Amino acid sequence: MEDKSKLLILYATQTGNALDAAERLVREAERRGCPVKLYSLDEYDPNLLPKEEAVIFVVSTTGQGDTPDSMKTFWRYLLQKSLSKHWLNGVPYAVFGLGDSAYLKYNFVAKKLDKRLMDLGGRTILERGLGDDQHPSGYEGALDPWTLSLWKMLSVIKPEFFPNGADVMIPNETLIDQPKVQITYHNNDIVESQFSTASDLKNNEIQIGGTRSMHPGTSHPDRRRPGCFLKMVKNLPLTKPNCGKDVRHLEFEFVSYVVEYDIGDVLEILPSQDPAAVDAFIQRCKLNPDSFITVSSREKNNCDAPYIVPVKLKTFVELTMDVSSASPRRYFFEVLSFFAEAEHERERLKYFASPEGREDLYQYNQKERRTVLEVLEDFPSVQMPFEWLVQLVPPLKTRAFSISSSQSAHPNQVHLTVDVVSWTTPYKRKKKGLCSSWLASLDPKDGIYIPGWIHKGSLPPPLPSLPLVLIGPGTGCAPFRGFVEERALQSRTIPTAPIIFFFGCRNEDGDFLYQDFWLSHAQNDGVLSETKGGGFYVAFSRDQPQKVYVQHKMREQSQRIWNLLAEGAAIYIAGSSTKMPADVSATLEEIVCKESGVSKDAALRWFRTLERSGKYHIEAWS
Ligand code: 2AM
Repeated sequence: MEDKSKLLILYATQTGNALDAAERLVREAERRGCPVKLYSLDEYDPNLLPKEEAVIFVVSTTGQGDTPDSMKTFWRYLLQKSLSKHWLNGVPYAVFGLGDSAYLKYNFVAKKLDKRLMDLGGRTILERGLGDDQHPSGYEGALDPWTLSLWKMLSVIKPEFFPNGADVMIPNETLIDQPKVQITYHNNDIVESQFSTASDLKNNEIQIGGTRSMHPGTSHPDRRRPGCFLKMVKNLPLTKPNCGKDVRHLEFEFVSYVVEYDIGDVLEILPSQDPAAVDAFIQRCKLNPDSFITVSSREKNNCDAPYIVPVKLKTFVELTMDVSSASPRRYFFEVLSFFAEAEHERERLKYFASPEGREDLYQYNQKERRTVLEVLEDFPSVQMPFEWLVQLVPPLKTRAFSISSSQSAHPNQVHLTVDVVSWTTPYKRKKKGLCSSWLASLDPKDGIYIPGWIHKGSLPPPLPSLPLVLIGPGTGCAPFRGFVEERALQSRTIPTAPIIFFFGCRNEDGDFLYQDFWLSHAQNDGVLSETKGGGFYVAFSRDQPQKVYVQHKMREQSQRIWNLLAEGAAIYIAGSSTKMPADVSATLEEIVCKESGVSKDAALRWFRTLERSGKYHIEAWS
């Protein structure tokens, strides 16, 4: 069948959920006999859109209403003024969004995409669906009913897509013989590989890249930008013991070559999994850790990946399959049910995979952050073939951290400020963040080498002449440590503009991160000193009965903020709280209204202009 007579599904994902939802639509379409093709938006040529038969978009919205990175080029293309209102020529389309209603700009990307497609002459198949993380069963709460309506409506518009009607489905049992992944086992004696386990690979970035590029779900970031090896030289606590938080200052040196970076850039790190968990997984699945394998996709030919060489199965698991931290998807449970030998396990797994079991699965799996290993231990009669495991175990992802140093101050180094994440699940199970707890456990004396990738974040480096209003509670201060270091250096040789920085933490005596650093720059002629037109203001949220946040300190300094903004200052906000960026933005609007006497609408317009002129930036993480 010609490619253009298939249903096209396009997705843009940040964390993998939109891909998961899109893959589910593909499976459902295929089970109904509907020919389908799937692309990430950055792999698709938008010039072809008006010629498609029908298109489904599955797009996620990131915290602050931004489009996922993989959608940016496509979105710029769609916004071109030269596209007429008939450009899409009635192409039938539907949009499903994934978002979180705890955020102000809930499902913003899906909404604006839907509107733009309509404005360009697209024909909606059905009203857009909006998945919500706050729903008791996550985005699937909305996806299930939406998909049912989708097939119904699509079969009316495009009956030729469904040769037997949209209600007739191929039983899942017949699909179970067709995993998308193919494993080739190589004869150990003739494989010439210098590498045995991931720990031996520490100096070989190419080998890590090669192994990761074999996995269908790990788009390896080093294919687009330079990777580097980093030697850990410092791991220092920034918080007092028993203060309820553990935040680390980590210093790394570049090994073999130095990668240039700017303040505001981001360092991505590939975490190491607990070797005991990897061993337990291999044993549980009755795999041979020492077999040499290559992995390829049956559908997409990835044999053109630059450096595919056989690797040990254990290395492949260590570097690509997240067995000990991420929760598997619903489809994992559905496929598990086919491989369960015990009747009661099969029934429970089937229930979890069914629409009725959706909420219970969400509680058991996502809410409890059940890992693949834990799930497999709960269903001991299941033996899933390795092909299916590779396809369905969540890929091991790199983690991104804001860089907290200036390279001008530390030419051969890069620093991070890492919150060591831990929490208790609703069933009181203790959980730790994979990457942060691993980083915190490392001792620089042991000669630790870590693969990393540096890239731009959402905070562009400001010119030395630009006055700055910085707001960064908690680890949100990380990028601003770099900003202050850099400006302090610049101020020795050239005139520089002032910086006002608002920091927030729980207690003065517990988690006042980099206290000496800020205070020393706020003294005498430092870049944060009031004598230089700058300022450093800190809010201790838990040192008194009522909460004091950065917003309170900002209100106290309302006039100084306004004066600096009137001089052309840029605003940078960074931090990890769900609500903080929205609350801080609202406070800034309040300040502009109060100090300049303009209406709320005028203040909002003013901020929009500020944003457009590249003077309003937010980097938020959860
Ligand atoms: P809390 O934990 O006492 O509520 C860094 O996490 C600091 O940011 C903490 O002092 C935290 O206070 C504070 N914080 C939490 N929510 C916030 C919000 N919406 N706005 C500003 N600061 C917030």
